[in-house]
Amino acid sequence: MQFAEVILEWYAGNGRSLPWRESADPYKIWVSEIILQQTRVAQGMDYYRRFLRAFPTVEALAEADEDAVMKQWQGLGYYSRARNLHAAARQVAERGAFPSTLEEVRQLKGVGDYTAAAICSFAFGQRVAVVDGNVYRVLGRYFALATPIDTSAGKKAFAELATSLLPKDTARVADYNQALMDFGALQCVPASPHCDTCPLAESCGALGAGNVADFPVKSHRTQVKERHFVYLAVSTPEGLWLHRRGAGDIWQGLYEVSLLEFDHAASIQEVQAHPFVQQHLPEGGVWSQVASQRKHVLTHRVIWADCYRLRYDKPLPLPPEFIAVAPEDLPRYALPRLLTLLLFNN
Ligand code: ADE
Repeated sequence: MQFAEVILEWYAGNGRSLPWRESADPYKIWVSEIILQQTRVAQGMDYYRRFLRAFPTVEALAEADEDAVMKQWQGLGYYSRARNLHAAARQVAERGAFPSTLEEVRQLKGVGDYTAAAICSFAFGQRVAVVDGNVYRVLGRYFALATPIDTSAGKKAFAELATSLLPKDTARVADYNQALMDFGALQCVPASPHCDTCPLAESCGALGAGNVADFPVKSHRTQVKERHFVYLAVSTPEGLWLHRRGAGDIWQGLYEVSLLEFDHAASIQEVQAHPFVQQHLPEGGVWSQVASQRKHVLTHRVIWADCYRLRYDKPLPLPPEFIAVAPEDLPRYALPRLLTLLLFNN
């Protein structure tokens, strides 16, 4: 199957139903994309609905006064987005119709290459690739494309690659563009991507090479990548829970206790709300924090590690892939140095 077909098939089963996907109105799509530039989908959804209730058409937005527009934007941040949107609505009202070519849409205040492509694809069904941060990550990983995305050479390489991958059937391009974004947002996520359930795993370049976390590449060579690990050392009367690290990342083949990865330093509340904890670690465990924000430096990356011990006085069902190892057997398992430091101080 072609790359686009795999993505579309994944989307049919896993895509999100989002309010702006129910419309091909360029105004609505434009508003959604401006909101989503710096706002997460979950938060953006309410603002999107309220904004459209207040200003249902581009004419209504053009006629509104600035205070009313800012009021709707209150709490979203990056207020120049709202001011530009308002100014651009007046541009559109003046010219009498929403522009319909990539070049014209690109002229609207606050609309860059990404937003212009999104509007032309989602509203007008044009054959253009929509390349956002999700798409850089997915394509960077799958094709192991290491040209830094923050250089003009990288932008060009990714734009060309993205264009070459569009489905042959133009009628499916808009869905494919949405699909690729969802695939990045849900499957090929920045921290701890779900490679074990990924339909592209077998042919993924970065997964094959064991460096999924290194993509997409950015040009700041001196800038080391920071990762936030939270180890949960779970022990029951049967022993300490360990699992073997899979392919696609550092420490392949070594053993470790359960590891949650975040894109920021996570609070204990966030740790306890994590699906792994919710699914496998019932109430009744005694939590103690044994390390907080321990800095561990590797080539090209810095890991900030927290570690909690969780003790249960009764056996628990083991999560998939885990084993319970009795203390006397632990020396038989190779653990990353960071983990032995955290757990045993040596
Ligand atoms: N983020 C930006 N645009 C998006 C869209 N159309 N769907 C989902 N997430 C997005």
